[in-house]
Amino acid sequence: MGIYLVTGAAGFIGSAVAVKLLELGNKVVTIDNLSTGNVENIPEGVEFIEGDCQNRDIYKKIPQCRYDAIFHIAGQSSGEISFDDPSYDLRTNTESTLHILKHAMSSGTKRIVYASTVSVYGKVGDCPISEDHSTFPESFYGVGKLASENYLRIYENYGINSTSLRLFNVYGPGQNLSNMRQGMVSIFMAQMVMQGKIHVKGSPDRFRDLVYIDDVVDSFLDCLGCESSYGQIINIGTGVRTSVRELIDDMIRLYGQEISVKYEGSTAGDIHGIYADISRARQKLNFNPMIDLETGLLKMLDWVKGQTNNA
Ligand SMILES: NC(=O)c1ccc[n+]([C@@H]2O[C@H](COP(=O)([O-])OP(=O)(O)OC[C@H]3O[C@@H](n4cnc5c(N)ncnc54)[C@H](O)[C@@H]3O)[C@@H](O)[C@H]2O)c1
Repeated sequence: MGIYLVTGAAGFIGSAVAVKLLELGNKVVTIDNLSTGNVENIPEGVEFIEGDCQNRDIYKKIPQCRYDAIFHIAGQSSGEISFDDPSYDLRTNTESTLHILKHAMSSGTKRIVYASTVSVYGKVGDCPISEDHSTFPESFYGVGKLASENYLRIYENYGINSTSLRLFNVYGPGQNLSNMRQGMVSIFMAQMVMQGKIHVKGSPDRFRDLVYIDDVVDSFLDCLGCESSYGQIINIGTGVRTSVRELIDDMIRLYGQEISVKYEGSTAGDIHGIYADISRARQKLNFNPMIDLETGLLKMLDWVKGQTNNA
């Protein structure tokens, strides 16, 4: 039983992490500015402080205590959107991390787990990418996340034990179905179910590592009490490479209806192909992704159908 600050619990990943912490009997506090999240996603029982992690005054409004850990998950999460206003991206994703770190220092909190991203790597070759691979982000989003990782690294010197989880492409129930610029699987699935057609911006040969939300939640929880993950940067994916074409074909097969697909255009800062070497996650966190793509897509499809029936 502990008390945890989970930033971004009105969003896809933050809400799922908060649910798990509550199930385990913990108290959970969240800060969320509702920029992309929805208040209805915040699990019952979470103490919600509406506000922005980049606003230093917000930390006066949360319970003043030593948190067992901070899960810093709030953030603008799209490479494409970071091109609209790079300064905003810097403030909302990177300056926020500094404020979180300062709050950890002043509250005596010793543990932070950070939602970093695959986007820090940029263009890579056609093989699984380990954490030792060079980082050359192609979007402002990736630059800001990489800077955050480095802030966390520096604060290790002040006794804050952090772990940066470089999340690959996370999908699953709870993803925002109305945001057509964030989340590859949610975008295609929403188009398929709601419009009966899919429009792919970019090449069908691009490939990704698609990791199911429950496995990602487990990776965050695995960090608790795990000293071997202190000061570490860890890829969280499946180690399986899936092309956009394979994803679309699987989704349509599982849906079982005629769907027209148009491939056209591209997205700023998009990476051609990347998938994870997850040896470090296995070694340091005992991480073992359980949900294969077909199972995950079926679970998500069920959820999406439920959402559209209720709409
Ligand atoms: N979903 C993915 O595939 C993926 C992959 C890599 C990394 N990530 C990272 O994981 C985190 C969560 O992503 P998600 O998919 O759940 O996105 P999301 O948009 O569903 O959730 C983000 C939440 O953070 C809130 N938020 C954003 N900026 C904030 C700020 N400055 N202060 C307070 N609240 C703020 C939003 O309102 C939202 O509720 C992000 O930091 C993202 O960069 C996600």
